[in-house]
Amino acid sequence: MSVKPFIQSCQERVNLALQQRLPRPEGVAKRLYDAMHYGVLNGGKRLRPALVYATVKALDCPLAVGDDAACAVEMTHCYSLIHDDLPAMDDDDLRRGKPTCHIAFDEATAILAGDALQAQAFEVITNSQNSATNSDNKLRMIAFLSKCSGSLGMIGGQAIDLASVGQALSLSELKQMHTCKTGALINACVTLGALATNRASQAELAALSTFAISIGLAFQIKDDILDVEGDTQTLGKQQGADLDLNKPTYTSLLGLEKAKEEAHRQHQKAIAALDLFDDKADTLRELATYIIERNH
Ligand code: IPE
Ligand code: IPE
Ligand code: MG
Ligand code: MG
Ligand code: MG
Repeated sequence: MSVKPFIQSCQERVNLALQQRLPRPEGVAKRLYDAMHYGVLNGGKRLRPALVYATVKALDCPLAVGDDAACAVEMTHCYSLIHDDLPAMDDDDLRRGKPTCHIAFDEATAILAGDALQAQAFEVITNSQNSATNSDNKLRMIAFLSKCSGSLGMIGGQAIDLASVGQALSLSELKQMHTCKTGALINACVTLGALATNRASQAELAALSTFAISIGLAFQIKDDILDVEGDTQTLGKQQGADLDLNKPTYTSLLGLEKAKEEAHRQHQKAIAALDLFDDKADTLRELATYIIERNH
């Protein structure tokens, strides 16, 4: 069965939830709010929200239980993309098929829009009205998202990425970079989804994390592969950007074929980690397959 209809329903669901939570674009700071809307409501596959919702489904809860977690991880992701595209970082001018935020607005506004989205991600969890999630679980969600997105997670990974331009990283260093810059937030998706349900056992939380670490690594390996094999129009971002910037990637270190083999190996590890879940986790399994087979 194709997972595409599920992904599409998650896109519709989270787009509405994001619209409801973003500040209304009016008043003296309108330019900032416009940039936040631009950076968030500009398409995007919404794979992170889909991972939240698929986890909620695996734990047999209604999808609405995942709305705030889905918004929080997508706001964090969109902030990271806005900053990733800045001239001081990857200096990209195309994102999701449109001019990047700093091109459409200006650098200062793009920096502020990213900052504001990061803060709002935590506000969304704190203010969640979701009846399944109690205060204790909200605190655990906030703690986990801050750990995954901070200096030991996503931002640490971005720092390694910038410091290693033109450097020959070892495979284990490259794996660490990918695990941090992309894997950590993917881990936050399934863990926050599970915490929001207030139903996951310790064993289930551990299994979901193991799943997410492998599929998060596979996600970034596939992103590296698409930078070589994809086309700019389908990707909605410039193909070949990693090569141009001399970035260390799985394809530059291992070559295309070995990078694909590694993505498959991580996919198998991820699937194996879900063994204790029944068929309600099939959507999560299908998303894992989609992540390594996607063409954008
Ligand atoms: C791109 O993420 C950035 C990475 C961490 C590899 P996505 O491929 O999920 O980008 P969108 O959200 O669909 O634009
Ligand atoms: C981005 O990685 C990771 C984060 C934004 C945290 P990339 O730099 O590879 O993402 P793209 O290829 O620009 O989407
Ligand atoms: Mg980057
Ligand atoms: Mg980039
Ligand atoms: Mg990339």
